Amino acid sequence: MNKSALMDTAQALVAKGKGILAADGSTGSIAKRFAAVDVESTAENRRSYRGMLFTTPGVEEFISGVILYDETIRQAADDGTPFPQLLAGKGVIPGIKVDAGAKDLAGFPGERITEGLDGLRDRLAEYRELGARFAKWRAVINIGAGIPTRFCMLANAHALARYAALCQEAGLVPIVEPEVMMTGDHDIQRCEEVTAATLQLVFSQLHQHGVVLEGILLKPNTVISGKDCPKQASAEEVAEATVRCFRRAVPAAVPGIVFLSGGQSPEQATENLNAMNALGDHPWKVSFSFGRALQAPSLQAWRGVAANIPAAKRLFYHRAKLNSAARYGTYSKEMEVAVA
Ligand code: 13P
Repeated sequence: MNKSALMDTAQALVAKGKGILAADGSTGSIAKRFAAVDVESTAENRRSYRGMLFTTPGVEEFISGVILYDETIRQAADDGTPFPQLLAGKGVIPGIKVDAGAKDLAGFPGERITEGLDGLRDRLAEYRELGARFAKWRAVINIGAGIPTRFCMLANAHALARYAALCQEAGLVPIVEPEVMMTGDHDIQRCEEVTAATLQLVFSQLHQHGVVLEGILLKPNTVISGKDCPKQASAEEVAEATVRCFRRAVPAAVPGIVFLSGGQSPEQATENLNAMNALGDHPWKVSFSFGRALQAPSLQAWRGVAANIPAAKRLFYHRAKLNSAARYGTYSKEMEVAVA
């Protein structure tokens, strides 16, 4: 394992003012997003949509890396340049989702376990050949009556640590993603409790598996009210609870925390990220690895129509720029209207 190369990649992914684009929606989840804008989910439409994002002029000012999906890492831009090479040519680091999705955890109703460890060593070697320099594995923790159980949190933490150790062996920076879901009517305190318990188990497992913390990135949920909770916490409350929770649970050796958006609106995700960075210096970089929150306005504008591509690219560039401002704590709501 070349530790210094891993550390350099991890640092580059959280470089000043930059964050990660998650463009790794599985074929199932992108089909849902396309259906919402009446686009058929064919391999060609998925290629064309993602190529539009990757070729947005200047977006590399704000985007350090892109997480690709197995299909996408093998696809190419309109001019035939393979996507990983196209991104690397712009100074954007290609990454790859390597988990096989969250499945029902047998014997634990309402809980999930992420699959994909079998054969992972060989898949990682192939992805590295194809140009990937980092990877992602997402664990799902649901909040509800009597859940999550400690067993489910531990099983997912164990799988995350096995994945992370294999990534580092292969020379890929593992993005460790334990997502406590915002689905439900729980309040922000409950989210904080569950997030803290999950992170403690994740870091204990990473330690036991010998994972080098300087060569990973953590991709968590923000500590936030459940979607159906009658009392929605403000951005300031979210920032305060999230920073408190992570300062307690995440070692300072971790270079960066790159938040997922997880069903927040694009504006809400940016505002929350901004509020965290406005609280001042933290032991780790506080950045983003958004899927929906970077893409939603652009996807809405595109709707599968070639003539809409310039407008869709402008919206993607704008969202990336606003999230870059949020990394400095200098975003304001007035900046939202600038592009319209
Ligand atoms: P969202 O930002 O849409 O939650 O996606 C991020 C991601 O990669 C989820 O695994």
